[in-house]
Amino acid sequence: MAATVPVTVAAILVAAGSGQRLGADVPKAFVRVAGRTLLEHAVGRFAAHPAVDAVVVVAPAAELAAAAELAAELAGPDVTVVPGGATRQESVARGLTALTALADGVAFVLVSDVARPFVPATVVSAVVAALRDGAVAVVPVVPIHDTVRQRGESAALGAVVDRSSLVAVQTPQGFRRDVLVEAHAVAAPGATDDAMLVEALGHEIVPVPGADESFKITTPADLARAEAVALLSAASPPRSGGPS
Ligand code: C5P
Repeated sequence: MAATVPVTVAAILVAAGSGQRLGADVPKAFVRVAGRTLLEHAVGRFAAHPAVDAVVVVAPAAELAAAAELAAELAGPDVTVVPGGATRQESVARGLTALTALADGVAFVLVSDVARPFVPATVVSAVVAALRDGAVAVVPVVPIHDTVRQRGESAALGAVVDRSSLVAVQTPQGFRRDVLVEAHAVAAPGATDDAMLVEALGHEIVPVPGADESFKITTPADLARAEAVALLSAASPPRSGGPS
């Protein structure tokens, strides 16, 4: 990390999951879409964003050297790679610890899943803009298009939930760094995202519009969709992040 550049916004990219549901023979971050690993797609986007000053990649412990090599090629000296933990929450906490060791001046932290490698620059810009406007925690959200039901106690399904009252939450989620550090310090295990931990401290979670392209790659069918999204974004390269 260049000592002369003030680091106010850092991105922690969590990539330490095994991706078992994908059924690949390598960890999910190393699965290739359009010839590049998901890790390269994600790091490339965040490192190129004008509002992001530093990137911390949290990689599978067994693949640390390979992850460091790929990430360094894309992000130069402003990328740090650390080993992940047994859960996503633990991996984010390790990324935060690495950040603390690296730079004191970080005001805002973005946490993003490498399993969502095609986050548009406009979404990153919107998250950072909301933080700069005073939000403590920001999440990108998208509408839910399926009809949603509760599971029943038996085999039968429960009631329909009004989908107009629901949103799906994506990453990157943005936080004031001091608050995210506090949230992880007191967190019980089991949260599926970081906003849940910050909300438990009593902070309001501010939504910004997410994007279809930020979908999470989980199953083999998602990889086919990812190939299409990669082709589309190659045909029309991501716009610059705009004001941040
Ligand atoms: O498993 P899940 O789909 O919730 O993973 C979301 C993101 O968290 C993925 O990018 C995955 O690599 C990351 N993760 C991690 N460490 C873990 C588990 C998941 O960095 N132990």
